[in-house]
Amino acid sequence: MALSLNSKFVEKFVSDKDILSIAPEIYEAQKTLVTKSGEGNDFLGWIDLPIDYDKEEFARIKLAAERIKKLCDVFIVIGIGGSYLGARAAIEFVKSPVYNSLKKDTPDIYFAGNSISASALSDLLRICEGKDVCINVVSKSGTTTEPAVAFRVFRNLLEEKYGKEGAKERIFATTDKAKGTLKKFSDDNGYETFVVPDDVGGRFSVLTAVGLLPIAVAGIDIDKMMKGAQDARLKYSIADIENNDCLKYVAIRNYLYRNGKNVEILASYEPAAQMFCEWWKQLFGESEGKDGKGIYPSSVIFSTDLHSLGQYIQDGTRLMFETVLNIQKANDELIIPFDPDNVDKLNFLSGKDLEFVNNKAMLGTLIAHTDGNVPNIVLDVDDRSEYSFGYLVYFFEYACAVSGYVLGVNPFNQPGVESYKKNMFALLGKEGYEDLKAELDKRIN
Ligand code: PA5
Repeated sequence: MALSLNSKFVEKFVSDKDILSIAPEIYEAQKTLVTKSGEGNDFLGWIDLPIDYDKEEFARIKLAAERIKKLCDVFIVIGIGGSYLGARAAIEFVKSPVYNSLKKDTPDIYFAGNSISASALSDLLRICEGKDVCINVVSKSGTTTEPAVAFRVFRNLLEEKYGKEGAKERIFATTDKAKGTLKKFSDDNGYETFVVPDDVGGRFSVLTAVGLLPIAVAGIDIDKMMKGAQDARLKYSIADIENNDCLKYVAIRNYLYRNGKNVEILASYEPAAQMFCEWWKQLFGESEGKDGKGIYPSSVIFSTDLHSLGQYIQDGTRLMFETVLNIQKANDELIIPFDPDNVDKLNFLSGKDLEFVNNKAMLGTLIAHTDGNVPNIVLDVDDRSEYSFGYLVYFFEYACAVSGYVLGVNPFNQPGVESYKKNMFALLGKEGYEDLKAELDKRIN
């Protein structure tokens, strides 16, 4: 077991009795999920994915990753939302947020197509100058504007650099199995393709080729990651809230939400978890935030943000609770040196590991925030291994799905994401959007 829930800093706000009072609703939601009887039930492929995945493709991912490692210095992953956050989260969590700057025998990995900034894309093009490059375009629909534009740009770069034939060895596409335009385009051009299963939505896709190919290119053991998810799947399938931390987490957060806590802050004391927090925000934000409902997912990295948002959390409007990812074993040990002059009066810490200090910062903050009436759920996570990452991913995916059903929403659609796209296409003058363009122009001018 890589994860356990510590409720010590939340029990002042949610008692065992409160958890049991909400348990029947949690079981009902879990039943809706596992019997596939709720809304969005055609997007439940992720539930059994840790055991029921395409083994032939899994092997092909590993082979492609080995080829990519040999072929390039820079690997560009083009995708947005669920099509990039999981891979980036895994690489930073397991390896490092400064993975690209570290000495290593794997390519640098950059993420493109997750904004529409000309500067962001131009910077990446500059990074590629004089380097060997491979790209992985990831888009389930194949039609998302941001990655589609970036794909055009990088395809041109590769074709100019290596010719059309040479480029096709360096372009990998992860997309819908048959329906999407990207699949046909890739087949026509001879690119190797990987599949985003029909029944797995973008934000639940990190353990498919979407996440696994870039993660494997970074030299991370994807077998161990799947094993973590497999073990979590077994652990959290039981309908027994006292022995199922995932259901307990769902119960506590929903109890808090019903009692005025509208914001959940995922907090970690490890900067390597920052992108994991971004992945988590998308998972919960897109799954729960609809029909006028949902806990707003936010995140902080402490102690960094104790010096920015700490004041508000301690003392501002009482609208939030925190979920703390307590990573118990650091990847590194760093001993604080002795200073004969002791100018900063910190010699009482010399000889101690920095993680010891980090842990005390966490405990001090847990007590302070709880005193400030911010409930804190603590998730003790063993370490930053690939196993723990897979375990955590499954924990949150399962929690998110059950929680969505408890809220009474369809956790697997994202109708709100379409609104901006429609307006953007109209304003850009896309065919078929003429009436909307006329209406929007009036509102702007
Ligand atoms: O979770 C989701 O469904 C979204 O975030 C998508 O992943 C995102 O919009 C990208 O879509 P696509 O993979 O079709 O380009």
